[in-house]
Formats: sequence, structure tokens, C-alpha cells
Amino acid sequence: MKDKILAPSILTADFGNLAQQIRYVELGGANWIHCDIMDGQFVPNITFGPFVLKAIRKSTKLPIDAHLMIKSPDNLLEEFINAGANYVTVHQEEVVHLHRTLTKIKELGAKAGVALNPATPVSTLKEVLPLVDMILVMSVNPGFGGQKFIESSIAKIAELDSLRAENNYHYLIQVDGGIGMDNIKRVSEAGCNSFVIGNSIFKHDNITAATVEFKNLLS
Ligand code: DX5
Ligand code: ZN
Repeated sequence: MKDKILAPSILTADFGNLAQQIRYVELGGANWIHCDIMDGQFVPNITFGPFVLKAIRKSTKLPIDAHLMIKSPDNLLEEFINAGANYVTVHQEEVVHLHRTLTKIKELGAKAGVALNPATPVSTLKEVLPLVDMILVMSVNPGFGGQKFIESSIAKIAELDSLRAENNYHYLIQVDGGIGMDNIKRVSEAGCNSFVIGNSIFKHDNITAATVEFKNLLS
């Protein structure tokens, strides 16, 4: 069975003490650090770019999972990978030449991911399923942390899990948005491998304890 990867999203972390917040999730056993990159164009929020990701790179040895919620992501692939991103995920809705973009991410030495917004069907990825390293199922509409989990995401995860099994594809399935103690088991049973969690960890009064609790739920 594929690993169950816990990827805390720092979107709702205390940016005034980011290195310390990352330490807290590391102590709790986090596997990756999920960085939400937003440009205020593709999504109605702005976060940070390669410059801050480079600083995050210096403060952790964990793999960095860069979720690019930006217009024209092709223009910044090299910068994010040179800044230290290990996984780079672009949005299907935003990339015209998806096969070329995924190939470029891999040629630049990172793992290539593609994200599907809640309204985007799995069928749009049919031709790139053999190529892609990770598929991110958005279980909220992108742009903000702390939103409510969209239940239809579970069927999408199960569909991707069946396609992977039937065709022996290698991609990881990732979920992102509204994940908490109440739904993580169901999402895991549907076939998800990587779990992005923001508010349920960073808004908890003990970040390390919350991380440990999620790791236990995934074991
Ligand atoms: C939303 C981001 C998610 C978000 C998850 O656009 O992609 O990573 O930060 O945060 P929670 O777990 O708070 O929904
Ligand atoms: Zn994200």
C-alpha cells in the first residue's frame, strides 16, 4: 500500500514565526511542507513567491510541495524548483499545454503534480495519467484556508484510485482543503496518499500534538 503522507499547509501558520511553526509540525512527524502560492489572479488571494520558498527551504529538510495557484505557471517553474520545491503542482484549469508543462517540471528535476478544482472532472486528465506524479483533488474552492470540506471530493479520489489500480499508474493522490479529524479516515479509505492540512493543525492550540494525532489517524 502506498504511504500516507501528512503535508501541513503553512497558509494559516503564524508567518511572524514561520521557522518555529515548521519545527512544531516536524516534531509531530509531518512528512512534507505544503506551500500555497497565490497571485491574486487565478485565486482571490495573494501569498508569496520563490523568494519566501527559498527561505522556507533553508529552515526545513522536509520535501516542499509547491501548490501553484497562479496564472501562467510555466513562467515560474524554474524559479520555484531552483528555490527548493520538490513537488510542483499546477492547476488543470490554468495550463493550456499540460503535457508540456508536466514534462518541463520533471525535466527541471521536480515531481510533477496537477490540481483539479471541485468543478473540474477527472476525465480532463485522461491523456496525462501515465505521466503525472501526483494528482491534487481540491476539496475546497482554492484561495483560503479554513473552508468546509466538499463531500463530492471523495468520489473523485475513489475514481482516481480505481483508474490507478486498473492501469497500474504510479501517481500519488493528494487532497487539499477542509481536512480534519472528522473526515481524514474516509478520505484515506477512498485511496488518498497525501493529506494537506492547514487550519486543523496550525489553528490548534498545540500544533505538534495535532500533527501527532493526524499521523496516528493515518497509521
Ligand atoms: C486553499 C489551499 C489549501 C488550504 C488548506 O486554496 O490550497 O492548501 O491552505 O487549508 P485548510 O486545511 O485550512 O482547509
Ligand atoms: Zn494547497
